[in-house]
Amino acid sequence: MKPYRLHIFVCQGKRCASRGSEDLLEALKDRIKMEGLKDIKVSKSGCQKVCKETDIEGEYSPAVVIYPEGVWYRKVAVSDLDDIIERHVKKGEVVERLLHYRMVK
Ligand code: FES
Repeated sequence: MKPYRLHIFVCQGKRCASRGSEDLLEALKDRIKMEGLKDIKVSKSGCQKVCKETDIEGEYSPAVVIYPEGVWYRKVAVSDLDDIIERHVKKGEVVERLLHYRMVK
């Protein structure tokens, strides 16, 4: 088996789930499969703590993180998947309008 190029985690914690993260996860899996991106792994995660960085419950949900870059996105909707796939996954560009933070290297 070849190693994955990217691993994308879609939060399924309580706050993100209340803001559509289950549909987001399934839509992302479908899109990756449809595009034939076999070097991309999509998984669910528990709470990534992004939701706890605001006083407004769920304001930053759903959260998505992409490794190995360590880029966290917030408030990701199904309608944002075009940008994430076309720009981040295919070109390696960070989608700044969704960026929460990225790991320090
Ligand atoms: S529930 Fe998703 S970041 Fe907390």
